[in-house]
Amino acid sequence: MSRTVYVNGAYLPEEEARVSIFDRGFLFADGVYEVTSVLDGKLVDFAGHAARLARSLKELDMAAPVTDEELLQIHRELVRLNDVTEGMVYLQITRGAPPDRDFVFPDPEAVPPTLVLFTQSKALIESAAAETGLRVISIDDIRWGRRDIKTVQLLYPSMGKMMAKEAGADDAWMVEDGMVTEGTSNNAYIVTGGKIVTRNLGTEILHGITRSAVLTFAREAQMEVEERPFSIEEAKKADEAFVTSASTFVTPVVSIDGVALGDGAPGPVARRLREIYIEQSRKAAI
Ligand code: PDD
Repeated sequence: MSRTVYVNGAYLPEEEARVSIFDRGFLFADGVYEVTSVLDGKLVDFAGHAARLARSLKELDMAAPVTDEELLQIHRELVRLNDVTEGMVYLQITRGAPPDRDFVFPDPEAVPPTLVLFTQSKALIESAAAETGLRVISIDDIRWGRRDIKTVQLLYPSMGKMMAKEAGADDAWMVEDGMVTEGTSNNAYIVTGGKIVTRNLGTEILHGITRSAVLTFAREAQMEVEERPFSIEEAKKADEAFVTSASTFVTPVVSIDGVALGDGAPGPVARRLREIYIEQSRKAAI
């Protein structure tokens, strides 16, 4: 069945939605995005996603086309129109479509940004990956240096998923100077010496909204958290590992480059954190 999507103020059937071929998102990957999960027809951590979106826009000197309140209404309207009970809302803002291809940014007064949103219905709680755990491989992190900005430049993460697939694995962790930065589309964690270890925030990783919530829940549950870089070698010796993102919540990792972690099954810390995250997110969803 055709979805209703949102393009620059209009709710349209997906077949009728159009963006210019001169759009800078298309020609220059000059755009930012957010993925907000939906549970029980409600938005998970909308405020966190809106705040990160505002930061991404500011870092790229782009103006927000609508207010946070309007953005919330658009999200809710799309969830309602498409009858989404579980899944995601994808949002993208680009620097608009100038009359010609030009590296120089267009005058924002003359060229308005392009705002697009659509929904994806998907089972998030019942997930095969959460049951079996993910097998990851390590790959070099060759992305640009501002990974804290959620841009639509996703070619390398996409290639990383393909490299994982070719290696018979599920996903890839990216490594820079021997240290793990993050997963192709998630933040990476290990559990070692009784502590949850994840890379500290900086320009090297995306500041995950799920990461922030999960670390808060972990500390509330008296789990010890250490925010520091960890090497791929340390990860391979860890007791367990997991990833977090809006679309996967907390998902265990059971092997890295073919090396099984612990007993090779999803670990207790990842399982517990997934339960807490789902329970708390359901309660707080709006
Ligand atoms: N990806 N790191 C990267 C590189 C990501 O692309 C994502 C999210 C995360 C986790 O961020 P959050 O917890 O805010 O979802 C970390 C989204 C889900 C995607 O591209 O589909």
